[in-house]
Amino acid sequence: MTNTRAPQSSSPASGLAHSTPGAVPVLPSWAAASEKRRGHIARVTALLDAWSDALSLSMAQRQAWHDAGRWHDALRDADEATLRANADDPARPLGMLHGSAAARWLARDGEQRTDVLDAVRWHTTGHVQWDQVGKALYMADFLEPGRPFMQADRAFLAHLVPLQFDAVFRQVVRLRLEWALREGKGFAPETVALWDAVR
Ligand SMILES: [Fe+2]
Repeated sequence: MTNTRAPQSSSPASGLAHSTPGAVPVLPSWAAASEKRRGHIARVTALLDAWSDALSLSMAQRQAWHDAGRWHDALRDADEATLRANADDPARPLGMLHGSAAARWLARDGEQRTDVLDAVRWHTTGHVQWDQVGKALYMADFLEPGRPFMQADRAFLAHLVPLQFDAVFRQVVRLRLEWALREGKGFAPETVALWDAVR
């Protein structure tokens, strides 16, 4: 892959915070995401847009939430060599590399919003120093309606986000930890630190 085009963060044609519901947001030219993945990205971004509306966020904030959603899995289906060559810590497990690789690529393309970059960078592990955009992306990634498990519970939590943002965030951290434990997966140090901070 070559890195030739900017991520078009503020282009009206590609990155408006209020896209057509269900439409797949425009991804950077270097994105590697399957059609199925693009459906997930569209649902995550639509959820973030809906929460932005409910919370009456400023235009800058809602654009930040929207961009974090549409970019977070831009490299989710990239090959291992690409991910290890671009991630901050290439020795990490493969599933943890796509966020940091995408953040680095976005930064190289000129993206300067550190909250957006940190949201994308840490979206698989969580991070204790996140502000709202990181937390919102972490919740939307888990609560988007296309995932097949716990659909009623997750829909209820998604509905609650604008009303009880921090309480739902804590619950999502807990649910994601419980799932990882059941699946026998290890925890990144950032995940353990996040749970210590919110429990
Ligand atoms: Fe995702």
